[in-house]
Amino acid sequence: MIFELNEEQLQIKYSIREFAESEIRPHVSLWDETQHFPVELLPKLAELGLMGIIFPEEYGGAGMGYVEYATIIEELGRVDGSIGLSVAAHNSLCSNHIFMFGNEQQKQKYLVPLARGEHFGAWGLTEPQAGSDASGTKTTAVRSNGGWIVNGSKNFITHAISCHTLVAVAVTDREKGNKGISAFIFDKTMKGFRAEKKENKLGMRASETASVVFEDCYVPEENLLGKEGEGFLQAMQILDGGRISIAALAVGIAQGAYEAALKYAKERVQFGRPIAEFQAIQFKLADMATQIEAARLLTLQAAAMKDAGKKVTKQSSMAKLFASEVAVRVAEEAIQIHGGYGYTKDYPVEKYWRDAKLCTIGEGTSEIQRLVIARQILKA
Ligand code: CAA
Repeated sequence: MIFELNEEQLQIKYSIREFAESEIRPHVSLWDETQHFPVELLPKLAELGLMGIIFPEEYGGAGMGYVEYATIIEELGRVDGSIGLSVAAHNSLCSNHIFMFGNEQQKQKYLVPLARGEHFGAWGLTEPQAGSDASGTKTTAVRSNGGWIVNGSKNFITHAISCHTLVAVAVTDREKGNKGISAFIFDKTMKGFRAEKKENKLGMRASETASVVFEDCYVPEENLLGKEGEGFLQAMQILDGGRISIAALAVGIAQGAYEAALKYAKERVQFGRPIAEFQAIQFKLADMATQIEAARLLTLQAAAMKDAGKKVTKQSSMAKLFASEVAVRVAEEAIQIHGGYGYTKDYPVEKYWRDAKLCTIGEGTSEIQRLVIARQILKA
């Protein structure tokens, strides 16, 4: 079995690489330094179809599959993890939740502008007291006047401030545990729904992260996603796909760090020769390249299985677990190869390391991925 991208997929890969090099690379340091979320990039992302990568053209999307999606996120992550993360959260969390579980009316009203890139999307599962324990949701939705009154909060939400549309879960029947959680579509025009506290983060600083507060926020019945009580199960299925994109993001970050280290190793002269000629450095580069290749294969396998309509709970968690930990290791070795210079902001590798760390936490920590994988293995 030869597992490689076809001509069309390679074309997509290199066109995104070109875009990232020309439109993103020149700004990476400043955006990171100032925590600037570049909303001005949105029209360009939209023009390339990146705001609706995995949705059919009839809903304003680019009609691509997960293999193409993973390839695109990898290329964005290779240059700037933040932009990769934003595109991933917009596509596979918010927009995909509406695509997978919304009715036709909800898709026309909310998915189409999201997929066309006219709107930004956010997704709210995590709460201050419900992180890894996602079914511990405290936010409530109580029936009232033909709709729901929502109270509570969500935190660590990508695009909480700039989003037009938010999909979030709330408890609709406390007695029923995880079967008493439902998902709703919120839009920024609704009263009683606001963003608060933008986080000052270690990495992924150009991707906006903030909290969301609901205070007696009225949501009409038509904004309930799927059936009442299905929200937790829906969220788990959304994460099955989302974790593929975080794996791809991690592969991209690792690749970027590796390329920077390779270049530096060939240029940096010590003891009269480029340090790439020393076996100590060669072995590091060999390990980095091998781990990245393995992470990419695991990610593409999960993506290909998703495209084939197979259940990917185990594979997406394996890909995310492995790729995110590879990204941290590779970025750390890239700093080591750079020596003292790697510890400064004059070289890009310290940022790759800071960005990589998020991949072992967002969309479920490495510990949660191990738990998901173990449960899948044990019940097989
Ligand atoms: N597909 C289908 N069904 C699933 C499923 C899946 N992937 N995962 C769970 N289920 C079902 C189970 O079969 C079970 O069904 P029954 O009750 O009928 O048996 C039900 O859902 C409950 O499952 P669990 O018993 O496994 O639930 P749990 O409470 O033990 O939690 C968990 C499971 C895996 C720990 C889950 O809570 C989890 O994934 N936690 C991490 C949350 C997370 O990833 N948050 C990240 C937020 S997004 C983010 O970070 C975005 C960003 O912007 C960076």
